[in-house]
Amino acid sequence: MMNNIPLFDRPKQIENRFKADADIVLHHGDVKDFIATVPNNSVSLIVTSPPYNLGKDYEARVSIESYLQTQAEIIKELCRVLKNDGSLCWQVGNFVDNGEVFPLDILYYNIFKQSNLFLRNRIIWRFGHGLHASKRFSGRYETILWFTKSKDYVFNLDSVRVPSKYPGKLYYKGPNKGKPSGNPNGKNPSDIWEVVLKDWEEEVWDIPNVKSNHPEKTSHPCQYPVELIERCVLALTNEGDWVFDPFAGVGSSMIAAIMHNRKAMGCEKEKEYVNATRKRIESYFNGTLKTRPLGTPVFVPTGREKVSQIPDEWKTELPQKRLLEKRRKYK
Ligand SMILES: C[S@@+](CC[C@H](N)C(=O)[O-])C[C@H]1O[C@@H](n2cnc3c(N)ncnc32)[C@H](O)[C@@H]1O
Repeated sequence: MMNNIPLFDRPKQIENRFKADADIVLHHGDVKDFIATVPNNSVSLIVTSPPYNLGKDYEARVSIESYLQTQAEIIKELCRVLKNDGSLCWQVGNFVDNGEVFPLDILYYNIFKQSNLFLRNRIIWRFGHGLHASKRFSGRYETILWFTKSKDYVFNLDSVRVPSKYPGKLYYKGPNKGKPSGNPNGKNPSDIWEVVLKDWEEEVWDIPNVKSNHPEKTSHPCQYPVELIERCVLALTNEGDWVFDPFAGVGSSMIAAIMHNRKAMGCEKEKEYVNATRKRIESYFNGTLKTRPLGTPVFVPTGREKVSQIPDEWKTELPQKRLLEKRRKYK
């Protein structure tokens, strides 16, 4: 269930500098220097999760103003390389300072508007697990801002339809009364995506260290799932188009692009992640890269898994038990 074997994909050459006739470009270096080598109006989809200024291993934490200023300069250049019918998907969460939450997508919105982009969706990427907060509600979603450069843009809805919950629904009045009201190819996936659970924690089998056992997990602290980007690639580009991740990390966007016969371009400043990307791409071509297939339902515990059960130590303490009983009443 967890793998994806490319039966017919022959390995493609990975170039380390931009070449218009390349299939894959993976550059090790600073994004500002790299974008300068990419021609105007050449990329169909820019999709990324930029550094969040959280002080992760790969970033020095600076003031929010100075962080946004640097990002604004990069975004201006990204808009230059974006094709007129192209899209930009910016995946971000929150910047947290002294317990105060700054929603990055709100802070970024004006920067994109200054470049005259048009917002098409603010997609909620919802996940079930993560850190438990004690002074606010635990954060369980991040967003993807999907912008287009013009009003004439690629949107292949049919490539990303999902099964309808009620395919048997019929028109109850009008000229089509009695006929199916849905689409036989499935429904629009909507702007709330429950793709996979963040941080890979939700493989609730009895595996001691689930993070390291997730099929896609690498050493990168902030990887996003390939499946999340597959949907963007399929809906917003056509085969043979360039997909560019300016902050490529371990290459999840590049893999999503390659899997669907798009040209993949990525830039990353940390050598370790560039090497990991190269390895992941190579394992994709030799059929050993494991990814969670697009559209796999999110795991719902049956209640029989060890981790779903109340620990023996708590059985004499009633609060958790009461909570579960109460919850049942609401169903
Ligand atoms: C949030 S991570 C992206 C992770 C990626 N989505 C994945 O799935 O692997 C952001 C990445 O941007 C890289 N980065 C930060 N500033 C950069 C810059 N100026 N030029 C190139 N890469 C940069 C960081 O090293 C980090 O790997």
